[in-house]
Amino acid sequence: MLEKIDRLLSLISELSVKDIQELETFRIRYMSKKGIISELFEEFRQMPASEKKEIGRKLNILKQSVIEKYDSYKDSLSLLPSSPRLNDPSRPSFPCSLGTRHPISIVRGEIISIFERIGFSVSEGPEIESDDNNFTRLNFAPEHPARDMQDTFYISRISAGDSNPGDILLRTHTSSVQVRVMQKQKPPIRTISPGRVFRNEAISARAHCIFHQVEGLYIDENVSFADLKQTLLFFAREMYGEKTEIRFRPSYFPFTEPSGEMDVSCTICGGKGCNVCKYTGWLEVLGCGMVHPAVLEASNIDSTKYTGFAFGMGIERPAMLKYQVNDLRMYYENDLRFLEQFRSAF
Ligand code: PHE
Repeated sequence: MLEKIDRLLSLISELSVKDIQELETFRIRYMSKKGIISELFEEFRQMPASEKKEIGRKLNILKQSVIEKYDSYKDSLSLLPSSPRLNDPSRPSFPCSLGTRHPISIVRGEIISIFERIGFSVSEGPEIESDDNNFTRLNFAPEHPARDMQDTFYISRISAGDSNPGDILLRTHTSSVQVRVMQKQKPPIRTISPGRVFRNEAISARAHCIFHQVEGLYIDENVSFADLKQTLLFFAREMYGEKTEIRFRPSYFPFTEPSGEMDVSCTICGGKGCNVCKYTGWLEVLGCGMVHPAVLEASNIDSTKYTGFAFGMGIERPAMLKYQVNDLRMYYENDLRFLEQFRSAF
């Protein structure tokens, strides 16, 4: 008898019920007057007293698990349309659980919508890129030390050792999409390119080997640094609030000259100083600059006629600030308890 009860216990724990009919079959089989549980209790009554204690305890556990199984299914299945209506194809499926957008997608959507409002289109490129598009046409000469700034994952290398314009790699930045756009399109060009990028970095709370960027590119006649500043000021105030201040620090990228890095006043303390901005009052948000003439020429754009600006920003950092998430790894773990907290119109 004990064995029989154990077998039934494991059967029930693994049992799954698809619809209300199956649940009814389950009820009749186990819980009705002539069901398995009643039968077992009948048998139990005739057992010698010495065995009753152990068997009685097990039997009650079995009975309880049958009831729990039944109850757990009853609630969820009773919400489903009953069987005749299942044949009605016009009925909406119900109940259906809606997924949520990933926080990175929400922030990407916000950034895109801000730039779309001022006339930027969206363009995308592949994650597997040529060294040519990722580096060479962006004015990184084959031996350029700036290649070391970005720890590249190579997929195939033509020659061992130094990189070569024919090598294939995982793009290290979305600037590779600039090159693709410039080769297809004639100025005026006004586009942003969101996407995933890859760098061989140790994974920690603040860095990951896979992350997201949004690239911006604007090329036309007479585009100046003032246009760059005004565009980014508009972006910063839309994104981080109308009181946001910006500042530029000189920087270096091979594909822009002059180059800068833009900070925004800390979104947490408003510039007074807190532990998020490390008491500086500023947060680093993007790299930018005027497109280097050599980059325009490498894609057959006349650099005597056209000028342009470009910028590139990560998505993870603003997402961390927005949602006050202090460990980047959470964005990649797909833990539903984390993801279900994000609901948004985007
Ligand atoms: N591609 C640069 C980076 O990943 C950012 C950048 C883009 C800088 C465009 C200037 C212009 O760091």
